[in-house]
Amino acid sequence: MDVAETITQCRVMPDAAYEPLWDSIVVPPTVKDRLLRSALLALSLRPNLPFEVTALHGLAVLFGPPGTGKTTLARGLAAQLAPLTSAKKTRFIEVNPHGLMSAEHGQSQRKVAELLGEHIPRLADDGIPTVVLLDEVESMAVARSEASLAANPADVHRATDAVLTALDANAVRTPQLFIVATSNFTRALDAAFLSRADVAIEVPAPDKDGALAILQRTLTGMGQAYPPLADLAYDAGLKRVATKLAGIDGRRIRKAVTEAMLSRIETVLDPGTLTVKDLLAGATTATESSDFKEGDGHAAA
Ligand SMILES: Nc1ncnc2c1ncn2[C@@H]1O[C@H](COP(=O)(O)OP(=O)(O)OP(=O)(O)O)[C@@H](O)[C@H]1O
Ligand SMILES: [Mg+2]
Repeated sequence: MDVAETITQCRVMPDAAYEPLWDSIVVPPTVKDRLLRSALLALSLRPNLPFEVTALHGLAVLFGPPGTGKTTLARGLAAQLAPLTSAKKTRFIEVNPHGLMSAEHGQSQRKVAELLGEHIPRLADDGIPTVVLLDEVESMAVARSEASLAANPADVHRATDAVLTALDANAVRTPQLFIVATSNFTRALDAAFLSRADVAIEVPAPDKDGALAILQRTLTGMGQAYPPLADLAYDAGLKRVATKLAGIDGRRIRKAVTEAMLSRIETVLDPGTLTVKDLLAGATTATESSDFKEGDGHAAA
């Protein structure tokens, strides 16, 4: 695979398709504030000051359990930044890191170096502030611990070396880049990679209030096609549903609504007839089916 093919998106913001992403995610306000502010600060300080002074790499790591909104937030960031920049526009580049890893000897390292060190800086050489998403970065920044050295081929670790080299080079010469890396497995990430992050932001599973807000957004959104659901979004009984769903991830909370529709053939045929009772049943199924995920590998950075 050519490195250009590992770029799945390269778009200039504003772009209507990216506008709704940021607001669709319900997280404590500090998560969004910290991500937006760190990107904005890095994009304004770095062009004006040498790396020796700021030590900024233009790298944020979002970590947390699966399904909490990390990828969506990272995809929405560039659109949020655009009106805050002097040019009123930004670029968003998404990379599929899995496409970089190759079984061929030395190829992963070469591809990482080419992509991060040459191809992406070239795409951003018009100076437009550019957000780069490295989703599920654990595949390309594998911890070079002894245990991992025994378990992984040396090539995997050479790819990590190439990531670090490219980050260091871009830190000095490409101040318009801001990289957002996401991961469920911060323990699997290389310590030197994490140390280069300007911020590491935990994206937690929603609490009771968060679960309620996600349910309301899901039902309001569905209300565009099934108007009674927009009213159901503000039913007082929804709080009980949210209490049941607190602590499971946002992806499963949204799916709990469709799970509830599955409980009766009437709601399958006409989703607008969904009730709080159905939602309570759906919440029970959703929490039970999320139990098997307990203990999945994620850890604080
Ligand atoms: N906090 C949240 N608020 C609202 N919706 C959410 C939230 N988290 C997840 N979702 C829903 O789940 C979908 C998937 O979220 P996303 O892919 O961003 O999660 P993720 O943290 O990147 O997951 P993974 O770690 O599995 O890659 C979103 O499009 C959204 O519909
Ligand atoms: Mg993700």
